[in-house]
Amino acid sequence: MSFPETRLRRLRQSAPMRALVRETSLEARQLVLPMFVREGLGEPAPIGSMPGVVQHSLDSLRAAAADAADAGVGGLMLFGVPAVRDADGSGADDPRGILNLATEAVVAEVGDALVVQTDLCLDEFTDHGHCGVLASDGSVDNDATLERYAAMALAQARAGSHLLGLSGMMDGQVAHLRAALDAEGFQDVLLLAYAAKYASAFYGPFREAVDSQLQGDRRTYQLDPGNRREGVREAVVDQQEGADIVMVKPAMAFLDVLREVRDAVDIPVWAYQVSGEYAMIEAAAANGWIDRRAAVLESLLSIRRAGADAVLTYWAVEAARWLRAGS
Ligand code: PBG
Repeated sequence: MSFPETRLRRLRQSAPMRALVRETSLEARQLVLPMFVREGLGEPAPIGSMPGVVQHSLDSLRAAAADAADAGVGGLMLFGVPAVRDADGSGADDPRGILNLATEAVVAEVGDALVVQTDLCLDEFTDHGHCGVLASDGSVDNDATLERYAAMALAQARAGSHLLGLSGMMDGQVAHLRAALDAEGFQDVLLLAYAAKYASAFYGPFREAVDSQLQGDRRTYQLDPGNRREGVREAVVDQQEGADIVMVKPAMAFLDVLREVRDAVDIPVWAYQVSGEYAMIEAAAANGWIDRRAAVLESLLSIRRAGADAVLTYWAVEAARWLRAGS
């Protein structure tokens, strides 16, 4: 046989050789843990569609945040579930609102060890479940929503959040919030723009996690899953508006978008491995149909390979411990 140029298997012959040529790394510091805190809970409450994930009480949240810091994850993304909702989502910018109280508690606990991040969106706080406030015709009012987001941004900054996750998909949200924060002296609070956030079926389990009130869908503000160019355009616009980091979400069904966004902007790009991605692997593993640990690590590696500098994942703490143990 003579094909000297094509003996590609030479690079794969031993574990050390493979390690030396592995192109993509996965490290604890690149993982961000999303966490849910629910007002009025005394004990953590399991989320049926996300085995292993809970709605936290304030106390269990604090303990879990400390555990995540111990595992070496890079950050936490906090979501709040209020006891009472209204049309304007007034719990979102109330300094005593659950998310703002939780942020203060978590920053006090682990704020020096990792990046404490907060979801900036109205959907958990509105009684109609939309990400913004509604106009009289029932549509989501973009510009009125920006005013609510600005109030929410200031409340989160005052609570000590290091980084605001703008997940609402309103036009102009990055520029508007940057200006609002700067005017109040919060120049150092970072903005993560959920730039390419798709109207996805893979958010299903999350809706249970936050007790979503949504009727209908989010297709007038989240992206159509058929659109790659438009996702890239969103990311470019968000960079121009002053985003510090852009996000692609969900991750695994949108790896092509992730790669293109990585090539189109020169700021960090993150991806969100969402609840449905988590639930699918957990369900398959629970049935014995897939090797759980291998599938989790491969899924995270693939998201990194596609171009994500960091990944939001419900497996952040567990994966961080596996990675630190050198698996
Ligand atoms: C909305 C929001 C959603 C998720 C994070 N932020 C749901 C939605 O847009 O309907 C989904 C996260 C997940 O599925 O893990 N603020």
